[in-house]
Amino acid sequence: MTNHHLSRRAFLASAPLALAGCHRDLLSIPPPPPAQEITGPGSLRQHAAQHILLYGCAVNVKLLSTDPAYADLVRTQSSILVAENAMKWGPLRPTPTTFNFDQADALVAFVEQNRLKLRGHNLLWHRALPAWFAAYANRANAEQLMLQHIDQVAGRYAGRMHSWDVVNEAILPSDGRSDGLRNSPWLQLLGPTYIETAFRAARAADPQALLTYNDYGIEGEDPAAQRKRDAVLLLLRRLKTRNVPIDAMGIQSHISAGPRHVYGPGLMRFLADLRELDLQVFLTELDVNDRDLPLKPTGARDEAVAATYRQYLDLVLREPAVRVVLTWGITDRATWLNGEDARADHQPERCLPFDRDYAPTPAFFAMRNSFDRRPAIRAAL
Ligand code: G3I
Repeated sequence: MTNHHLSRRAFLASAPLALAGCHRDLLSIPPPPPAQEITGPGSLRQHAAQHILLYGCAVNVKLLSTDPAYADLVRTQSSILVAENAMKWGPLRPTPTTFNFDQADALVAFVEQNRLKLRGHNLLWHRALPAWFAAYANRANAEQLMLQHIDQVAGRYAGRMHSWDVVNEAILPSDGRSDGLRNSPWLQLLGPTYIETAFRAARAADPQALLTYNDYGIEGEDPAAQRKRDAVLLLLRRLKTRNVPIDAMGIQSHISAGPRHVYGPGLMRFLADLRELDLQVFLTELDVNDRDLPLKPTGARDEAVAATYRQYLDLVLREPAVRVVLTWGITDRATWLNGEDARADHQPERCLPFDRDYAPTPAFFAMRNSFDRRPAIRAAL
């Protein structure tokens, strides 16, 4: 090979870079951050923000105050937070007549100090009810109990919340009702109108928060997921027809890696139906369960988890109604998937964008790249 060849090759190799640099100067666009830079312009929050998206995560409020590295990670990556547990009935309601807002207030303070947004999770659910609930609640006092809770909790933080999950997981077609409603304590005590009553009370208590219906098991292409989507749509259409104040659908997005798990056109049709109902869509609890993957090699497991994030987000982010993506936790050190839905071998899951030592996982880069690939969408729906 001659010198001439070498220099020509070197010139050709450098030409696109030189041209790109020139173009950037002209448009005064800052150069992209190196791929390994993961904070500031390299963070999930900033990559999301460039595509009309808020990225955030569910937080463990105790860890926020005891682990500065965790607090730093949460702060640098997120625009929006949600309490994994601290705003549920159980933690908030030590007795039927008292409230304990210590943890919830601590989270609100953290969010406001760091100029983040906050989602409330949740005002009504069949789980995480306090131990006293079953013996205390009855048909005579349940409506008052529910309304007082919504008034006190949503009212306390009025004007400071991005959104509230007003009703969580109220649909379960396998319970056999024609309206698809779950046979929850709230349904048994108050009948099917409890959902509508709760949304109206939430709007009255905090007129500014976006009011959300949140549910799981609607993501896949299997018949059970399709039944669930159909039942959720039935509920949402009924609420809209009755002028119930509802602004968004929360799709939890507890998804799984492995060939059995497919995400595709059924979900996209559902998202378009939500948009036609004038609802925003929030992915509220995204994580990728790796229980169907072999434990070893770890690298292959991480890549398969990342591929599932990529496939799911590339699909769902095509829909302009999707405005928020929260992962359910941010580090593998603190994930519910090591408890409920754990691996059969009881080994720790590797399901989130940061590992147990707070280093970014392949899932982090997959998420970031999916945000970057989001097709341009109009700012207003
Ligand atoms: O409160 C006690 C605490 O005092 C004690 O130290 C601890 C020891 O195990 O138990 C504590 O409570 C547990 C709590 O998590 C905090 O760790 C509860 O038993 C346990 O049931 C609870 O699980 C939570 C679950 O919801 C039920 O509320 C999970 O952390 C949380 O990730 C999970 O989140 C749900 C969403 O709210 C709705 N969508 C599904 C998602 C996963 O199930």
